[in-house]
Amino acid sequence: MSEIDQLRGEVLAAVNAATDVPALEEARVEALGKKGRVTGLMKNLGTMSPDERKVFGQLLNALKTEIETAISAQRAKLDTAALDAKLASETMDVTLPIRPETKGSLHPISQTIDEMAAIFGAMGFTIAEGPDVEDDFHNFTALNFPPGHPAREMHDTFFLPPDQEGNRYLLRTHTSPVQIRTMLNEKPPIRVIIPGRTYRCDYDMTHTPMFHQIEGLVIDTETNMAHLKGCLQEFVRMFFGVDDLTVRFRPSFFPFTEPSAEMDIGCSRAGGELKIGNYGDWLEILGCGMVHPNVLKACNLDPEVYQGFAFGMGVERVAMLKYGIPDLRTFFESDLRWLKHYGFAALDVPSLTSGLSGGGLNR
Ligand code: DAH
Repeated sequence: MSEIDQLRGEVLAAVNAATDVPALEEARVEALGKKGRVTGLMKNLGTMSPDERKVFGQLLNALKTEIETAISAQRAKLDTAALDAKLASETMDVTLPIRPETKGSLHPISQTIDEMAAIFGAMGFTIAEGPDVEDDFHNFTALNFPPGHPAREMHDTFFLPPDQEGNRYLLRTHTSPVQIRTMLNEKPPIRVIIPGRTYRCDYDMTHTPMFHQIEGLVIDTETNMAHLKGCLQEFVRMFFGVDDLTVRFRPSFFPFTEPSAEMDIGCSRAGGELKIGNYGDWLEILGCGMVHPNVLKACNLDPEVYQGFAFGMGVERVAMLKYGIPDLRTFFESDLRWLKHYGFAALDVPSLTSGLSGGGLNR
């Protein structure tokens, strides 16, 4: 009896004194483990007389339960204390003044894409996206670039090492592969814009290895070049905020459009300063054309039934024109002074009713 009382006192003291989980476990093993003190006494029961065994057995079982309860209670206490300590170490003083230098703002690229999406969205376009890592089929073949065609080389493509089956993936050189993905996945009528990152191995004042494009694609049964012209003219007028801005189309070549054109907008370069407007000079702004029948065929669309137009332009390029940014590379230098100068308020959501960012070059 007194032996059990003494044991209880010692074990409970050890349990309650445990200040961490390993110490608690040690106390448990010492009492209830295979070679523990309580377990040892239980093993002795077999040597006792039946009467003794009954009394002693009950006492030992009660002790065992008491110790187990004490261990759980101590464990809960340790867990709560650990959580309290963690919470205490993670508190912050919300009354501290904010740090003025960490004010966030939208990058001009994001702002420009948002503005374009607002304009095309109002015309009924939705946004489509595709992967940056593309295969040869979507980036070239389905877009009517024949194998070995020089235009493939013109794109200065970044190729990835071939995979186990010998497939050669690449970083998409333009957003046009998403035209293919869209036509393969959706039924006409299609009206999408495709903003995204594109990659070419090139670096100077007007080229960076990664840049952004925005692509447009319209497929329907009666779409023609006049729709293309009206759509793009309306876009540049809204984007640059010049209501009567004139556009000019020059014949051009892209494998995936026929006929192909480049669109210019009116500008002035007088005094070395670029101004958008009808001043008699011209500035190239985008490539476009009617989707080539071979491209429609590659997407299982019958060219006798469907036609459409497509266009593509560089996001940085039009942002540079709109906001008067002279060097493309500065977009990606993460210079906070530059970002502060050209960055846009994080809550400045462009829309045709509340307005795009105002003023362009005259901001
Ligand atoms: N993919 C072309 C490029 O990167 C741009 C382009 C031109 C896209 C004409 C088009 C288009 O959709 O119709 O140079």
